[in-house]
Amino acid sequence: MESHKKEIIKATVPALEQHGTTITKVFYQTMFEKHPELLDMFNQTNQKVGDQPKALAFTVLQAARHIDDLEAIVPAVIGIAHKHRALNVKPEHYPIVGENLLVGIKEVLGDAATPEIMDAWEEYYGEIAQVFIDVENGMYQTADWDGFVPFEVVKKDHLSDDIVRYTVKNDTVEYDLRAGQYITVKVDPEDYPNEALRHYSICSINTDEGLQFAVKKEGSGEKSGVVSHYMHDDVKVGDTLELSAPAGDFLLNHEEDKFLFIAGGVGATPVMAMIEEAIAADKDSKFIYSVQNEGMHPFKDEMKAFGEEIDVKIKYSDTEGYLTHEDFEGMEDRSVYICGSMHFMNAMIKVLTEVGFEEENIHFEPFGPKMSVIGETVASSN
Ligand SMILES: Cc1cc2nc3c(=O)[nH]c(=O)nc-3n(C[C@H](O)[C@H](O)[C@H](O)COP(=O)(O)OP(=O)(O)OC[C@H]3O[C@@H](n4cnc5c(N)ncnc54)[C@H](O)[C@@H]3O)c2cc1C
Ligand code: HEM
Repeated sequence: MESHKKEIIKATVPALEQHGTTITKVFYQTMFEKHPELLDMFNQTNQKVGDQPKALAFTVLQAARHIDDLEAIVPAVIGIAHKHRALNVKPEHYPIVGENLLVGIKEVLGDAATPEIMDAWEEYYGEIAQVFIDVENGMYQTADWDGFVPFEVVKKDHLSDDIVRYTVKNDTVEYDLRAGQYITVKVDPEDYPNEALRHYSICSINTDEGLQFAVKKEGSGEKSGVVSHYMHDDVKVGDTLELSAPAGDFLLNHEEDKFLFIAGGVGATPVMAMIEEAIAADKDSKFIYSVQNEGMHPFKDEMKAFGEEIDVKIKYSDTEGYLTHEDFEGMEDRSVYICGSMHFMNAMIKVLTEVGFEEENIHFEPFGPKMSVIGETVASSN
């Protein structure tokens, strides 16, 4: 891209960031009007509540800081690209997003949106889209299978008051599973206008009976989560679920030797598989788990069995309070793997850095967008 065009992009980013919410709103509105088929791919609850919709447009704006060296954003792109691949986002979708994002940008800039400025943005979007397309092409080539394939539900066990584990099987596909990865289910609930896609972490590396994942029933009444309620209430043994291949970059680094695993509530799911992998590799590991109370506590037998191999501490927040500084003292030399809600992740990262853990040794998987963290990564690696 010519340098005067790069200057145009850099000069317009601050104003666009200030009105990022308007861009997001206009972008999704025009895109879904012109391409209603995409309503099946994007989470429609997130369109009403939550931060997720902002992630896409804000990432485009934040990446503009690296316009002189787009290669620098590749590490941040990888986590997003895993989600895109899991959702079956394809190269042909990029021009659709680009066109509608430009409508949002034009609306925010108003009279200042000269043809020269809009040309520069169109070209820049094309470049950043190409970075994503290239990374995702590599992932499609190495994925265990293409698109969504049917799996039979062979087992459904209740692990706690609100968590159910599903074991699903398809003997025609082979997979090379890594602890920490997630599968993505595509469902079509009868009383819901669209298809819905959601990611669920694989909770065991043992696949003798099939792939295992566990789903927490989210919300109730008007706030009932679409897919988690459908899974709990409607999906039975013998039913078929469409799954895309395992994805994700929350993986154990086997070059490290001392691990600390931390999980909150249903965030135990990927961590259970990781602990299995760490024990199998004979790694020095500790596990700290926070959950509201005994009734909400999943994987009790599995955690008890871990306790025979590694240090396991379970804290019920209703009676013993939340995890805090003293729970982690003396463990600062360990590599940390955390999973839980966005709120849990943020609280843990704050406490751990205050205790003296190095930020680069803290790995995490929020059950939501990594947006805020990616934004900082893109911005701070400048
Ligand atoms: C990498 C990754 C791995 C994951 N792994 C797991 C896992 O192993 N197990 C698991 O259970 N989940 C996991 N999740 C979360 C999962 O993908 C879903 O987000 C979760 O099941 C909720 O989906 P849903 O369709 O039930 O809720 P949605 O319909 O998507 O709703 C999202 C949230 O909004 C709330 N809500 C709905 N309507 C309203 C309203 N009007 N006002 C306010 N709030 C509202 C819902 O209660 C819910 O909490 C993972 C997510 C990611 C990104
Ligand atoms: C350069 C262009 C793009 C950027 C920068 C981008 C960025 C992002 C980011 C940051 C997220 C959140 C990831 C997370 O959960 O951690 C996301 C999610 C998502 N993206 Fe993209 N994206 C781009 C293009 C696309 C395209 C072309 C499509 C398909 C039409 C797409 C579909 C989705 C979907 C469906 C989600 C999940 C969000 C939801 O379900 O609400 N994205 N994207």
